[in-house]
Amino acid sequence: MKSVTIMQPGTLVIEERQLVEPQRGEVRIRVASAGICGSDVHIYRGHNPFAKYPRVIGHEFFGHIDAVGEGVAASRIGERVVGDPVVSCGHCYPCSVGRPNVCVHLQVIGVHRDGGFSEYVTLPASNAYRIPESIADNDATMVEPFTIAANMCSQMNPGPLDTALVYGAGPMGLTSIQALRGVYGVKEVIAVDRIDERLAMATVNGAHRTINNAHLDLKAELEELGIRPTLIIDAACHPSILPEAIALASPAARIGIMGFSSEPCILNQQAITSKELTLYSSRLNSNRFPLVIGWMAERKIQPEKLITHQFVYSQVAEAMSIFEKDQKQCCKVLLRF
Ligand code: NAI
Ligand code: MN
Ligand code: ZN
Repeated sequence: MKSVTIMQPGTLVIEERQLVEPQRGEVRIRVASAGICGSDVHIYRGHNPFAKYPRVIGHEFFGHIDAVGEGVAASRIGERVVGDPVVSCGHCYPCSVGRPNVCVHLQVIGVHRDGGFSEYVTLPASNAYRIPESIADNDATMVEPFTIAANMCSQMNPGPLDTALVYGAGPMGLTSIQALRGVYGVKEVIAVDRIDERLAMATVNGAHRTINNAHLDLKAELEELGIRPTLIIDAACHPSILPEAIALASPAARIGIMGFSSEPCILNQQAITSKELTLYSSRLNSNRFPLVIGWMAERKIQPEKLITHQFVYSQVAEAMSIFEKDQKQCCKVLLRF
C-alpha cells in the first residue's frame, strides 16, 4: 500500500508499505479521501512535541471498511465510514467521565500512531462511524474538523441570546462560525482576522459582521458598534488574545480557547471575577462524531464551503506547500487516495 510518511522533520515521502492488518477489535479502512490540517504540517515541520517518526500522518479520513479483525462483525465490511482519531483507554478518570479526548493514555491517529494519508489505515472498530448515503464523500471527509467546533460548542452551550466573537477565520474559526449559526442559532456572529480574504470566507460561512484587526482597533470598533460579546471563541490562538477577550467580554460571558501555545500570557483575576466570566478549553473531540454526522445529514452545516483545493495523494507535497503558504486563497485541502 502507498502511504504518506514523514520520515523525520522536513522529510516527506510516499512509501510503499506492507498492507496493514486489522488487529483484534479493529477494522481496516480503504481510504478514499483525507483532509490536510495544520497539525499535519506541524508534524512535517517537527513542531509537534507528541509526534514520533517515521509517522504516516493524517487524522481526517473517509473511506470504506475492507477488512475486520477478530471479534468484529464481518457485516461491517463495505460500510462507508469516517475515522475518529481519538483512541482512548476507556478506564482512566477522563475516560470514565466521558472525556476520552484527554485520556491519560491518549493515542491520536496520525500523531501517536499511523494515520489516514495512506491507501489503508487500521483503527478500533468503535472509532469507525458509519456515514449515511445522503452525505457526499467530500462532506464526510470534513466530519473531523467540525467535531472540534462541536466539542467546543457542546461545552459552551451557545444560544439565541448570544452575540459571538470568533477570532481567526481559518478552518477552525469557520467551522465554529457555521456551527454557531446553523446549529445553535446565535443572534450575531462577528469574525476577526488579519487577512481580508479569510474574512470574506467568514462571511460566506455565516458571519454577520467581520473586523480586520490588522487595520482596525477591535476594542474601539466593538465600542462604536455597541457590541459586548457574550461568547468568544479563540480559533486564532495567539497568546495575546485571551487577555484581550477577557477585556472585551460582556459580564457573564463565556470564553473558549483551543490553542497550544506554550508562551505565557498575563491575566488578572479581577478582570475575570468582576464579570464572573467562564473559561473553557477544548481539545480534539469527545465522542462528537455522531453529533456532527447528524448536523450534516440535516444540512445544518455546509462543509463544501471550506474546501478550496483537491489533489491526488501523489501531489501531496504540492498540496502541503499550497496549504502552508497561501492562507489567502487556501482553506481546506483534500487528498484523494
Ligand atoms: P489557521 O492558521 O488556518 O487559522 C488561523 C487564523 O487566525 C488565520 O486566518 C490568521 O490570520 C488568524 N489570526 C492569527 N492571529 C490573529 C490575531 N491576533 N487576531 C485575529 N486573527 C488572527 O489555523 P486553523 O487550522 O484554523 O487552526 C486554528 C488554531 O486552532 C491553531 O492554533 C491550531 O493549533 C488550533 N487547533 C486546535 C485544535 C483543538 O482541538 N484544540 C484542533 C485544531 C486546531
Ligand atoms: Mn484536523
Ligand atoms: Zn483513558
